[in-house]
Amino acid sequence: MSKLCIRGGKRLKGDVIINGAKNAAVAILPATVLVDGISVIENLPNIQDVRILNEAMRSLGAVTQFTDEHTLEVDASTVYQHSALAECISKMRASYYLIGALLGRFGKAEVAMPGGCDFGGRPIDQHIKGFEALGATVEVHGNIIKAYAPKLVGTRIFLDVVSVGATINIMLAAVLAEGTTIIENAAKEPHIVDVANYLNMMGANVKGAGTDVIRIKGVEKLTGGKYTTVPDQIEAGTYMIAAAITKGDVYVRNIIPEHMESLSSKMREMGIGIEEGDDYIRVTADKELKATNVKTLPYPGFPTDLHPQMAVLLSTATGVSTLIESVFENRFQYVEQLKAVGAKFTVEGNKATIEGVEHFTPAHLHAMDLRAGAALVLAGLKAEGGETIVHNTKYIDRGYEAIEEKLNALGADVYRTAH
Ligand code: EPZ
Repeated sequence: MSKLCIRGGKRLKGDVIINGAKNAAVAILPATVLVDGISVIENLPNIQDVRILNEAMRSLGAVTQFTDEHTLEVDASTVYQHSALAECISKMRASYYLIGALLGRFGKAEVAMPGGCDFGGRPIDQHIKGFEALGATVEVHGNIIKAYAPKLVGTRIFLDVVSVGATINIMLAAVLAEGTTIIENAAKEPHIVDVANYLNMMGANVKGAGTDVIRIKGVEKLTGGKYTTVPDQIEAGTYMIAAAITKGDVYVRNIIPEHMESLSSKMREMGIGIEEGDDYIRVTADKELKATNVKTLPYPGFPTDLHPQMAVLLSTATGVSTLIESVFENRFQYVEQLKAVGAKFTVEGNKATIEGVEHFTPAHLHAMDLRAGAALVLAGLKAEGGETIVHNTKYIDRGYEAIEEKLNALGADVYRTAH
């Protein structure tokens, strides 16, 4: 298993270009199943999850081709399978989108139970509630979810919890259904708007994505087309935080600054310079950082996927900060790793109290999920006087394209070893 070796203490300076959003890409690729034709998806991040989903699409009968590193052509008119049971599928969470897509296209779906990061219980009861409301029967047989419906009929669905996955999955099942579906208490993340824009580009009729009420008027058929994925809000936030941790001066480019507002405002509170342009944010941090309090919430609140990275930043501020996790039950597994570099944390329930420290010391750190892995790399950028080794890079590669090349282009000193 490869690992990343980081010689910290370097100020990051320069430009970093952000890729397309992982959480949009991993929903749009399954959604191509609904299209009776060719979808050309541009600005896809070159990451493990995209490669796995490409394999999954091919296992269903789609003809796919990368026309360049970030563009995938998918001809789903040849899809004949409604069973997505390949081993790779249960490795990732977003495979659950194949249920909504296959159900929408064929009226039946058999998909391996989704995997993904371990944040405690991650039920899919709201997905199932939505499919059943549309007229499907859903059964779980061991590690396989089976759903079938003689006919899907639009209806009103109120989500008991604000769920990104359930909002998108119900949208996928509803676009070809008879009549209108209304999703209430829907999630509003930028990647939800992106999936709706993709579907509308293919001929669907989805209104209100990005608000908490989404209306989907079923259509006969979706035809092919070209679509460009939205920039990755979480990758952008990770590099903004990296710039601040190293007291750097970085232009984070190819982003939508509005998507970063919850982070930008917290960084301003800490005394970090935030300059917004049309498609970039410049982050400058040249003085002592002030402590602050953060609570994760569904969009437009502070994203839970920037929680571990923000914990590293708060650990370098002067004073005591707090960080409350309100989206997932248990997302503090990274804390023990950060203590190894000298960070000071106490965690009670879903709240961490973080006392800022001046220095981190190099250590061996072990990634246990995607965003925690990225946070450990950020901690390594701060730790001086030796090498910080981050193990289990497979988690990081699932969602970050060329992380060491991008950091080194900003003046960091990171290298990867195969063993
Ligand atoms: C998506 O996960 C993202 N994954 C996660 O990003 C992200 O952390 C999360 O949304 C929140 O923003 C993808 O897009 C592939 P949820 P998802 O359904 O859909 C509860 C990353 O690092 N819930 O919005 O699984 C659930 O337990 C990953 O990129 C139910 O109770 O999240 C959680 O507490 C990690 N029943 C809350 O809702 C359900 O049926 C939000 O979960 C569904 C969810």
